[in-house]
Amino acid sequence: MAESPTPKSPSGKVFDGRLIRRMLAYLKPYRKQFWISLLLTLLLAVLNPVKPLLFQYLLDHQIREKDIPGLRLLILLVVALLFIQIIFQYFQNLMSNLLAQSVMRDIRVKVYQHIVHLRMKYFDRNPVGALQTRTISDVETLNDVFSQGLVTIVGEILQLLVMLGVMFYIHWQLSLVVLTTLPIMLIATYIFKEKVKSSFQEVRKYVSELNSFLQEHISGMYIVQIFGREKEELKRFKKINEAHRNANIRSILYYSVFFPVVEIISALAVALLIWYGTGEILYQRLSFGTLVAFLMYIQMFFRPIRMLADQFNTLQLGMVSADRIFKILDTEDFIPDNGTLDQSSTPFPAQVDIEFKNVWFAYNEEEWVLKNVSFHVPPGKTYALVGATGSGKTSIINVLSRFYPIQSGEISIHHIPIEQFKLNWLRSQIVTVHQDVFLFSGSVKDNITLNHPDITYEQVVAAAKSIGADEFIQQLPGGYDYTVKERGATLSTGQRQLISFARALVYNPKILVLDEATSSIDTETELLIQKAIEKLMQGRTSLIIAHRLSTIQKSDCILVLHNGEIIEQGTHTELIRNNGKYRKLYELQYA
Ligand SMILES: Nc1ncnc2c1ncn2[C@@H]1O[C@H](COP(=O)(O)OP(=O)(O)OP(=O)(O)O)[C@@H](O)[C@H]1O
Ligand SMILES: [Mg+2]
Repeated sequence: MAESPTPKSPSGKVFDGRLIRRMLAYLKPYRKQFWISLLLTLLLAVLNPVKPLLFQYLLDHQIREKDIPGLRLLILLVVALLFIQIIFQYFQNLMSNLLAQSVMRDIRVKVYQHIVHLRMKYFDRNPVGALQTRTISDVETLNDVFSQGLVTIVGEILQLLVMLGVMFYIHWQLSLVVLTTLPIMLIATYIFKEKVKSSFQEVRKYVSELNSFLQEHISGMYIVQIFGREKEELKRFKKINEAHRNANIRSILYYSVFFPVVEIISALAVALLIWYGTGEILYQRLSFGTLVAFLMYIQMFFRPIRMLADQFNTLQLGMVSADRIFKILDTEDFIPDNGTLDQSSTPFPAQVDIEFKNVWFAYNEEEWVLKNVSFHVPPGKTYALVGATGSGKTSIINVLSRFYPIQSGEISIHHIPIEQFKLNWLRSQIVTVHQDVFLFSGSVKDNITLNHPDITYEQVVAAAKSIGADEFIQQLPGGYDYTVKERGATLSTGQRQLISFARALVYNPKILVLDEATSSIDTETELLIQKAIEKLMQGRTSLIIAHRLSTIQKSDCILVLHNGEIIEQGTHTELIRNNGKYRKLYELQYA
């Protein structure tokens, strides 16, 4: 997973207006919660500084004048205020978290939805791990921004301002005394904020390294064990863990230094206040109540400053995550889907033809993978593609389903260029059975239907029966409900292949594309698969990348690919008679 070592928000600012505005747009559906949460935060910011005022009043009036009923009333007022604060706090928390969780859900779904439609080329370039981090942990970071970042910062700043205002209003000289400690506090906070930020970023970097290491090594455990690399890989894992631990400890250290420093500074402020205040009281220039109120304010004053340091970090990390997420959402790496034709306008006949006309194709600009490829598969016929590894066989079927766009030439189905079809419909007409079968975790049945709601259980069983997969599926514990785990690790290669054939049959495509697996299997399964393939090809136009001699021999025509060019084509007998490349391949492989 390629994380940049020190991620920065694009502008490096905490308040990147463009990003914030974009994030706020996600709040729209939750406007009500947002305004309630903001309102409560603001109310709390104003209510909090009232308590010391009440105490001041109580000490200077009711206690001095021994006004017991008045005292009771004021104490009741303080208790009531506390209750109100608690209730407000509860709802504020509830609303802001509700809001953040909903926004997070929306963004995650949106990112996934976007990724699902990106073209294959994007996935060739972007590691799975990075995309995973985007949809999971980066979105999680945004959660903090929405639940405690934005609104809380506004509330805390307002509270500071209100407190300052009240303090200056009741006694400006005392306020100045308290404020003398503020610069030290601000400097300490700034240093702390910067240090913690960089160690947080480091922690995040190592977390993502841990993630990708584990992901890779657990999927590749087989290789690690086969080659006996356990010890060495463990060493590498230990090293990342060590770095992760150290980065975490660094941030904990900063916290453990910062908090006592804050304590010392506020103790200093208290000491100054008492020294100056008691003197003033003696000269009767200050009331006892005012001094107590100020002592309370000092406690309240430093807390928001400390919190602000944390919240600015949250916000900054949030900006980095938001930027990464928006980068994915801004990726317009789609296959253009401008076609208009589909079932309703151009229903295909039972059998269609496929034509490649002077097709040139490259994955990357530097290197042609298909060079001037032309061929025509008449309706209902089976064409086989043969050729050495890397000759471009899989690429031909990739461009037929428009997973990659071709650079020049034309591919048409039923005499219509494939770009004119709606992408979804085009792909629904072609079923590709791939070299490496991919099974999802879920039941065998769901793996055959791919959760298509219109495919019935009976159809699944019928397809499996005609493919010859029914027998082994019935023997699995639970039969069609047998849970496939981890891409079908508990099934054999042949069994997985048969399931994928059943999947193809049940979707009943007009065109069958088969990338036959090279892996050799036992003769019994081989026979089963052979039959299954024949069943699949029955009555439909098929393009088959064949390795099995029997498949090749039975096909209507063989296209021989060499370095992206079709160098020979004809039936098996014709090509053998030709004594060309095909004969060589054939003799190498089967003779
Ligand atoms: N996603 C990709 N991005 C860039 N290049 C690719 C990609 N897939 C394949 N290639 C390159 O294109 C060429 C043709 O590959 P292709 O997969 O079509 O071969 P193939 O004939 O199917 O081989 P095999 O018999 O081994 O499956 C190879 O040189 C390969 O390196
Ligand atoms: Mg291939």
